[in-house]
Amino acid sequence: MYQYQYIFVRGCFLISCLLLVWYVIIIAVSQPPSVWTFSNENVVTLAANFSSSTENVLQPKSREIMSSPLLDMFNVAHRTGCKLVVCSIGNLGNQIWEYMSLFVVWKKFINSGYIPYIDNNIWENLKVLFPNLTIRSRSDDLCNVEFKRVIPKNKSLSLYADWFTNSTDCQDIYLEKYSSRYEEIVADIDEIRKEMKLRKSLTERSRKDLHKFKVKFGLQDKNVTFVGMHYRGTDYDRHLQMNYQSYNVTHPNHRYYIKAMKKFKKKYKNIIFILISIDKAWLRQNEAFIKKEGYVIVNPYYDDRIRDLVLLSTCNHSIINYGTFGVTAALLNGGETYVYDLKLPLDYRGSTLAIGLAGLLKNWKKLS
Ligand SMILES: *[C@@H]1O[C@H](CO)[C@@H](O)[C@H](O)[C@H]1NC(C)=O
Ligand SMILES: *[C@@H]1O[C@H](CO)[C@@H](O)[C@H](O)[C@H]1NC(C)=O
Ligand SMILES: *[C@@H]1O[C@H](CO)[C@@H](O)[C@H](O)[C@H]1NC(C)=O
Ligand SMILES: *[C@@H]1O[C@H](CO)[C@@H](O)[C@H](O)[C@H]1NC(C)=O
Ligand SMILES: *[C@@H]1O[C@H](CO)[C@@H](O)[C@H](O)[C@H]1NC(C)=O
Ligand SMILES: *[C@@H]1O[C@H](CO)[C@@H](O)[C@H](O)[C@H]1NC(C)=O
Ligand SMILES: *[C@@H]1O[C@H](CO)[C@@H](O)[C@H](O)[C@H]1NC(C)=O
Repeated sequence: MYQYQYIFVRGCFLISCLLLVWYVIIIAVSQPPSVWTFSNENVVTLAANFSSSTENVLQPKSREIMSSPLLDMFNVAHRTGCKLVVCSIGNLGNQIWEYMSLFVVWKKFINSGYIPYIDNNIWENLKVLFPNLTIRSRSDDLCNVEFKRVIPKNKSLSLYADWFTNSTDCQDIYLEKYSSRYEEIVADIDEIRKEMKLRKSLTERSRKDLHKFKVKFGLQDKNVTFVGMHYRGTDYDRHLQMNYQSYNVTHPNHRYYIKAMKKFKKKYKNIIFILISIDKAWLRQNEAFIKKEGYVIVNPYYDDRIRDLVLLSTCNHSIINYGTFGVTAALLNGGETYVYDLKLPLDYRGSTLAIGLAGLLKNWKKLS
């Protein structure tokens, strides 16, 4: 009798343990990891005050700290705010522009109470580079739905103001894929620069590397000017041919880069040029010519896109052709920038982004 009782108690204990383990697994599996990192970093999250007031004001300064994943789950479930969303498409460069586009659109309609969200993919890629992003992702799948309200990338925001100001029905708003709203981004460039401050550990590592380059060329005692050069080739060349068939699209070779290098050499002494490109075939054809033109470092990191981007962003000036990657670095370093003139009309796609910016920023110039 005593023995049976003992077995019964042990059985109950085992079953309880199993139930506990099962519960923990269910909780863990049902939540993508972003939610956990979210709380681990104890991040400041935007939370709107949707109480009785008629106008749902989302104040960027009155943020609430959400301290537990459970609390976040409940908030996601019960949140009444409408969502303003951008979904990731394209490479790292595209995603940075998608983020910045969302940021400026949200800022423009900040009083509407819409809450901005990026998808997990953008969050995972951008958090590596930028430690202080305001906008976060959510644990639910934001993008696997039918988008009823989409703001086209090439249309003025004022056409969509109604969606924000007159939204008793609370419909989610999406930015069109490949949004790169450079006009609004340039108009808000100081805020953008604060938002897109690179992680200090990354910029410090780049600065150390820049110093190594100085030593390599015996310029360690000089005030060196670093010019970052980027050539976006590979699949992009085909992409350009297909998208702009009716135009005579040409790709720059060493002649364009050398022309721009000469302009910098006229203006500054002690320049080190840093050329980054993943297009190995183009490099084979052009690298030797470019190296004859001065102190040149080519691809120091073997295609590490994060280190490449940070290094180019730590340079003083830029020479780029097109594409969101080089454009991002040039925008972040804030220096003089030469842009290859594709001679295409602006169409608000990534390809004409560089040309568009050259028309707006006074230290950016087109060259061909
Ligand atoms: C939320 O709104 C209510 C009523 O308008 C106000 O009393 C309260 O202070 C607000 N809370 C925060 C955190 O802003
Ligand atoms: C809000 O939307 C409704 C329905 O689309 C429209 O009739 C109304 O005029 C709009 N109100 C404002 C202030 O724009
Ligand atoms: C991020 O924000 C924190 C706190 O405001 C600040 O100390 C830090 O310097 C910021 N990081 C960057 C890279 O701006
Ligand atoms: C280096 O040159 C830049 C640009 O001309 C100047 O702003 C900076 O003060 C100089 N730095 C030193 C240490 O001389
Ligand atoms: C160039 O940039 C480096 C690193 O960002 C900086 O330390 C240096 O002062 C800049 N040099 C000039 C000449 O502006
Ligand atoms: C396209 O441009 C190239 C180089 O500038 C030129 O040689 C060629 O004739 C042009 N073709 C057309 C169809 O305009
Ligand atoms: C805007 O985009 C649409 C669809 O992609 C296109 O048909 C239209 O020509 C574009 N307009 C401008 C001004 O670029």
